[in-house]
Amino acid sequence: MHIDKATEAELRAALADLHEQYDALAAKNLNLDLTRGKPSAAQVALSDALDGILDGNYRAADGSDARNYGGLEGLPEARALFAEVLGTAPEETLVGGNSSLTLMYQVMDFALREGLRGADSAWGNRAQVKFLCPVPGYDRHFSVCEYLGIEMIPVRLLDSGPDMDQVEALVAADADIKGIWCVPRFSNPTGCVYSAETVKRLAGLPQVASASFIVMWDNAYAVHTLQDDAPALASIAAHARELGTMDGIFQFGSTSKITFAGAGVGFVGSSERNLAAFRAHLAFQTIGPDKVNQLRHVRFLKDSETLNAHMSRHAALLKPRFDAVLGTLERELAGSGMGNWTTPQGGYFVSFDALPGLASEIVALAGNVGVKLTPAGATFPYGKDPDNRNIRLSPSFPAQDDVQASVDVFVLCVKIASIKQRLSR
Ligand SMILES: Cc1ncc(COP(=O)(O)O)c(C=O)c1O
Repeated sequence: MHIDKATEAELRAALADLHEQYDALAAKNLNLDLTRGKPSAAQVALSDALDGILDGNYRAADGSDARNYGGLEGLPEARALFAEVLGTAPEETLVGGNSSLTLMYQVMDFALREGLRGADSAWGNRAQVKFLCPVPGYDRHFSVCEYLGIEMIPVRLLDSGPDMDQVEALVAADADIKGIWCVPRFSNPTGCVYSAETVKRLAGLPQVASASFIVMWDNAYAVHTLQDDAPALASIAAHARELGTMDGIFQFGSTSKITFAGAGVGFVGSSERNLAAFRAHLAFQTIGPDKVNQLRHVRFLKDSETLNAHMSRHAALLKPRFDAVLGTLERELAGSGMGNWTTPQGGYFVSFDALPGLASEIVALAGNVGVKLTPAGATFPYGKDPDNRNIRLSPSFPAQDDVQASVDVFVLCVKIASIKQRLSR
């Protein structure tokens, strides 16, 4: 039934039936959660061999003892391994502690307060600093900006990545804009993969923008495919090298969703000049990262072939959960006029756009019968979705049956909210 083609009587009958199903669900006292983009227990268990893998051998390839202080830029073999993920050279790669978000925060804080090229280049010298935020996007990027007092300007995220016409026009016209957040492969939450043309234009952005502009390239899902034929991502480093813009690109990644989300390895790639400046800034905070964990990761993940084989074991666990969500949305809502959703080929999320004005009501309806959804607005700067329509679904963590039960409740709530809205017009 398409919501705009049904008669009022049909809509009222459908709504009565849906309310009956909803009341029956309320009696079940469900306690389900689709909010968390976390790997499941079975996924983290895929990397349990990390524990004990060193077996008393703490020597790194250069003969140094990984247990001791030092090596602020990370173990050489870890830099080489993760450089492959980012498409950088090992010298353009710094491997840190467990979180890439920490590295992103540190780069932003450094550029804002101290300046990538010395005090004169600090963004904070300006009365106002702004950042472009493709929407919908990752809430923690937005909270870093909000916390640091950086004004966020939303830009459209298309299937091909940020709307580059809009982005280029904005940065050319406003010198307060000092960067853009990007999740280029299997973006959070839409799952889109930036097109080759978009990657090239983003690599060229520092030439169009004001001084000290940076592209924050958070490639959190660089190797997180759900199927073998998932689209590849063009190399921003290759384009940046060609254009001479490496100083304007910071790439990030981590093994949070490869090995252990709470005990993985985070890394950052940029020009050697940027990394030298960043390293000097880090030296005030630490003598060195956890190199023992880096060594474990190198021995466990070995090379890109082993890494990819490991990722296909993740995909085998994730794919049925995504299929449950996508299959149910398709069966229950396709052609209904009650919403649109993305069909990601990797990453951790499905992005659902309800009819305008309904996201918060759908989230509340689901919450009232025990199904937690990511709060409406979370995918927009300041938590404000101007159309109140985007909802991020995260099927990775719950058990398969719970994913199915949750998405069944979700579609019921979408239908109730949509039909109620239609009838009230
Ligand atoms: C786009 C994106 N970046 C970064 C992170 C967090 O990365 P890390 O665990 O390395 O700090 C997440 C986690 O959900 C994410 O979705």
